[in-house]
Amino acid sequence: MPHFLDLKDFTKPQLRMMLDSAATRKQARKTLHKGMEDKDLPLKGKAIALVFERPSTRTRFSFEMAIRQLGGEVFTVSGAEMQLGRGETIADTARVVSRYVDCVMLRAKAHETLLEFASAATIPVINGLTNRTHPTQVLADVLTLEERKGDIARSRVAWIGDGNNVCASWIEAVGVLGGSLKIGAPESLRPHKDFLNWATQNKADVEVMTSPEQAVAHADCVVTDAWVSMHDDDIENRHNLLKPYQVNAALMKHAAKDALFMHCLPAHRNEEVTDEIMDGPHSVVFDEAENRLHAQKAILLSCFGLK
Ligand code: CP
Ligand code: NVA
Repeated sequence: MPHFLDLKDFTKPQLRMMLDSAATRKQARKTLHKGMEDKDLPLKGKAIALVFERPSTRTRFSFEMAIRQLGGEVFTVSGAEMQLGRGETIADTARVVSRYVDCVMLRAKAHETLLEFASAATIPVINGLTNRTHPTQVLADVLTLEERKGDIARSRVAWIGDGNNVCASWIEAVGVLGGSLKIGAPESLRPHKDFLNWATQNKADVEVMTSPEQAVAHADCVVTDAWVSMHDDDIENRHNLLKPYQVNAALMKHAAKDALFMHCLPAHRNEEVTDEIMDGPHSVVFDEAENRLHAQKAILLSCFGLK
């Protein structure tokens, strides 16, 4: 089944094809109003369900609009509204919904739920974020980086702060597409060893260090994320550990002069990033959010074997 579960499941040509398709579709919309359908409607006759076990703004809006603009049918449900919460198994749920719709995007609390759902489904399943990874986000991030800096394979990216789900998908992106990734994170919040081992096995240029200044040195792009993700509960501990990892003007001085600043959003202003950086000349965070829409189209089309 052509699922979109994680970036590491794809070859470089496959991810390059999705990035090209996203860029082409973005270009093609330049003359259209936001809500209008695209000129060709490759998803006509297809129905896609978006299932959320966690809240979402960007992922929900961008998938809904991507599907509408490509001519497909879409509806959104929260996991809590389904029988999942009353004990129906994940596998049975996947088998049932496979009889109604042509594709499911699932934002699952646990990565294992996503995998179980995907292995029982007879339709493509898209990972809309789990506790472990966030691949649809990072495909849009790479698109944003390449719009300004060219091929990621020639870029130096710095990840600052929590080695979380978005960081894990960055590791996989660099492992498949090339480029270098320096991760500045406190010892106890480094990415899970599975991702670091995968990076080593795949000869990815990924390094982890505790110093944020060292990680940012000469970077073309500095990326951070919230100190507390949706699945975290050790709020106070994380705030204490991550305070020295705030992306501010002093830290950005270590990066290349024209470095980009990225954040998947939602941002906690003046925690992981200052207003000055969020709203300053390095920041491309709103282009990054827009690019979710264009990247989702490429992901959906790849699930249906279309371009
Ligand atoms: N970046 C992102 O996935 O945002 P949402 O949680 O709002 O979807
Ligand atoms: N790391 C964040 C990303 C939100 C889009 C979280 O999982 O909450």
